[in-house]
Amino acid sequence: MNKLIVLNHKMAFSYDDLYKYISELNDINKSFVVLPSYTYLKEFCMLCNYPIGSQNVSKFMDNNHTSQISALQLKNIGVNYALIGHSECRKEFNETNIDIKQKVVKCLENNIIPIICVGEKKGEDVIFVIEEQLNLIKDIDSSNIVVVYEPVWAIGTGEFPLMKEIDTVIKYIRNSFKKSIKVLYGGSVNKDNIADILMITDGILVGSKSANISFVKDLVKEIE
Ligand code: PGA
Repeated sequence: MNKLIVLNHKMAFSYDDLYKYISELNDINKSFVVLPSYTYLKEFCMLCNYPIGSQNVSKFMDNNHTSQISALQLKNIGVNYALIGHSECRKEFNETNIDIKQKVVKCLENNIIPIICVGEKKGEDVIFVIEEQLNLIKDIDSSNIVVVYEPVWAIGTGEFPLMKEIDTVIKYIRNSFKKSIKVLYGGSVNKDNIADILMITDGILVGSKSANISFVKDLVKEIE
């Protein structure tokens, strides 16, 4: 089964825990994409057997942007994926759909596969929100794009949409693009729901708990 399992570590790890985690993850044979915090990207690129992604990327390419990290810099250290438009970044850094489009373009120009998050807040109309979030990127003519449906209200809460609701949104996203792209689900994925989710998606994204190797092992046991 070639389903993507994206591990979004957020700010997890002290330096001491890192090497044990990488070695235990290397012993599991699944299609992981690991998104460590920026400080550990290089270590993961060197030591981890799986493709590595960053948790964000700059929309700029020229030098004059303090605190930013460009797609080219990421590519140069061996990064293959970049997460773009996570709801925490949309909220905390006021990222707009225009910013997100610019980041996607910079990634593709530098051979980095963008993993783009979309999803509604509690009470919002799902398809209306997703249509708006995809509007600027759906015409990009590339199959090297991954989209993750992440209802904002399901992130880290243990709340979860019905499978048929996820199925409808996943199909809507697939049909929005000209090329065939991978469409994932994220938000409170656990060992009880992973098998069902993978039947209707191309993979999953797991948040902070993915930095806990026991959690990851329990999760993948369900899809052996
Ligand atoms: P969760 O987080 O797996 O903890 O719900 C998902 C995410 O942060 O995207």
